[in-house]
Amino acid sequence: MNNRYAWLEEEWRQLDQHSLARALHTVEPMSKDGGAWIHVSGQRLLNLSSNNYLGLAHDKRIVEAGMQAAQTWGAGGTASRLVNGNYTLYEELERQLAAWKEREGALVFANGYQANTGVISAMVGRGDAVFSDRLNHASIVDGIILGRANHYRYRHNDLEHLEYLLREQRGGRRKWIITDSIFSMDGDMAPLTALVELRDRYDAMLMVDEAHGGGVRGEQGQGLCHEAGLANQVDVLMGTFSKAFGVYGAYVCADEVVIRHLTNKARSLIYSTALPPFVIGSVLEALQLIQTETWRRVAVRRNARLFRHLLRLRGFSVEEGDTPIIPLAIGENELTLQYSRKLRERGIAAVAIRPPTVPAGSARIRFTVMATHTRADLEWAADQLKGIRDEL
Ligand SMILES: Cc1ncc(COP(=O)(O)O)c(C=O)c1O
Repeated sequence: MNNRYAWLEEEWRQLDQHSLARALHTVEPMSKDGGAWIHVSGQRLLNLSSNNYLGLAHDKRIVEAGMQAAQTWGAGGTASRLVNGNYTLYEELERQLAAWKEREGALVFANGYQANTGVISAMVGRGDAVFSDRLNHASIVDGIILGRANHYRYRHNDLEHLEYLLREQRGGRRKWIITDSIFSMDGDMAPLTALVELRDRYDAMLMVDEAHGGGVRGEQGQGLCHEAGLANQVDVLMGTFSKAFGVYGAYVCADEVVIRHLTNKARSLIYSTALPPFVIGSVLEALQLIQTETWRRVAVRRNARLFRHLLRLRGFSVEEGDTPIIPLAIGENELTLQYSRKLRERGIAAVAIRPPTVPAGSARIRFTVMATHTRADLEWAADQLKGIRDEL
């Protein structure tokens, strides 16, 4: 009999054979400890794979603010913001975001993926050149593809390579440099000051994705660009509410003229329903807490340094630093999966990151620490990891 899905079976077989298959795990409701521990399929696990860096996702004040917004405005966004979905809540949030980021304007998107694809495809077109770090997030790559611009990928954080490519394209149409601020799978930081200099020297524009810098860096959590004193230097600052904010959604901050252009051209904004009021209400509260509860930022950076130190003490090769993303390089897909499975058996949730999320041959366990992890949690986790290495 003709099997219409034989090709899907074959694709699956290929993935499985290369230890690249993915599956969903069911997480059960809980958390009285700031999200540091979770229940997965009935098992209590230390969560070392969450982007909830500040432990805000379960904060009662945020949940309460969301519920109040839902009670006032209803459950759904009901239409695109350009139709009838532009509740006053949105405008309040954008006003606060612009003030926080010290920029003229802000625009909220449904999520980080849609912000990057929508913004980039609205800002670039055929014949433009986009210079993008090789390790930038997939949503940036997809935005460039959607924009039909010429795509030049420079070697990770390699300024010489970037300058070489910029020089080659001198005199062309518009040029954009795009980078993550903190790289999502490597946890290292972009050389922002040097990127601003190159932007100026080559008459380009610069967009920075602060998905992992927002909330955790900068005096009031504005991100790495603020920490580097570059708040007003970057043309488009993008960030998300899905990570340190503990909620969902994303935003860009920029000059008013850019915001106006995006409101008219960003297709992911125009042709998609507004976020539900619950989300905006929660984000407004999270934004206050991010600015005022400085201890969370201090704690996550302390835990980031501590966990790196604990791993190094046990002989693991991890880079020093204080960003919450700590990759443990393993290399082979199958071995990385084994580490992840064994971590889980011992009570730790830490997922294996494999290609195409990271380059072939660079599979890893991506650990992330949170403000709400205790020293005992992290010491115990480092001991478990050492035990697994000895076993394998
Ligand atoms: C650097 C970066 N940009 C964008 C995104 C997408 O954000 P979201 O999860 O809100 O769609 C992510 C999240 O995975 C990310 O790591």
